[in-house]
Amino acid sequence: MRLQYSIIISLISIIMFSQNKEFAPGKEWKDTDGVHINAHGGGILFDAGTYYWYGEYKTSGKSGNTSLIGFSCYSSKDLYNWKNEGIVLKIESDPNSEITKGCVMERPKVIFNKKSGKYIMWFHLELKGQGYNAAKAAVAVSDNPKGPFKFLKSYRPNKRVWPMGYKEEFKIASANENQLKSWSPEWLTAINNGLLVRRDFNKGQMSRDMTVYVDDDEKAYLIHSSEDNLTLHISELTDDYLDFTEKWTRMAPAGHNEAPAIFKKEGIYYMITSGCTGWDPNEARSFSSKSVLGPWKSLGNPCVGKDSELTFHSQSTYILPVSGKKEQFIFMADRWKPENPIDGGYIWLPIKISNEKPILEWADKWNLNSFAEKQ
Ligand code: GAL
Repeated sequence: MRLQYSIIISLISIIMFSQNKEFAPGKEWKDTDGVHINAHGGGILFDAGTYYWYGEYKTSGKSGNTSLIGFSCYSSKDLYNWKNEGIVLKIESDPNSEITKGCVMERPKVIFNKKSGKYIMWFHLELKGQGYNAAKAAVAVSDNPKGPFKFLKSYRPNKRVWPMGYKEEFKIASANENQLKSWSPEWLTAINNGLLVRRDFNKGQMSRDMTVYVDDDEKAYLIHSSEDNLTLHISELTDDYLDFTEKWTRMAPAGHNEAPAIFKKEGIYYMITSGCTGWDPNEARSFSSKSVLGPWKSLGNPCVGKDSELTFHSQSTYILPVSGKKEQFIFMADRWKPENPIDGGYIWLPIKISNEKPILEWADKWNLNSFAEKQ
């Protein structure tokens, strides 16, 4: 009896000791099975007391950034310890499926639709064998946060719809606009004035790096890198979150922003993005606005200190409002490892707001209590 008791005690203490009690940005992050979490380019849904982390399930080696398996999901009550819930959107074996093995599926974000009671997943989809040319936003749906999600369809958003407040004169192409030299001042002005919006008007606008955001009034938005990644588009979703209304705006035209992540604090919307250097890190940017549809004000690099010019060797993916703690927001970013994508790391850092500007400071280790004390 005594022996059994001490075995139970030591088992409990092993479990207790192996639990994560803090965030350790960039370090191996083991799930509750002791395996490094595999949920890259991820986003988080908080639902009925549980956090669900959805991400790209990467594989080893050079092909590890193409989608061979699907999107993973992990669940947690405390944000430190994550249980693997398996693959929630599986790539399909049908070679004619848009999500067939070898396509590229990135940056899944899940939101809950109160009216339909459905969980809606949006993601970036590139069709097999077409590199990054398809530039589509895709949507899948589930009755359960743990999936399985069913792929519904993919879009080039805003086909044959001009953005809100778009000037009449920008609807018509000028004679030699396609001959302008890339990055010349004339070309930048032409981009600003809708050169690529016009180019993609009939086909629908491009959608690569993306996030989704549900506002306090339950309206949802897809925020996506468009126009050859030169301009972000913010596109309102229909009430069922499965399609687009005709309301959309452009943000930071010709500003070359990727990896958008958004949050709202005290009535102000903030966005953090990256520049466009593929898997290599670059300097993050930040913006604020009084309305999700803009206009957005540029606030510069939110990172401070060592490696701030490289976003601490990472790229934004999501900003998580901590449940029940109105003032706490966590910046989530990926430290990509293109040579072996499965080893990619996660950089989670607390966001401080100073003079209506988001600030990100490196921390080797931190937890939600130390975060609260710093505020
Ligand atoms: C990054 C982007 C990633 C992925 C990668 C491909 O800039 O943020 O999500 O698309 O390019 O090179």
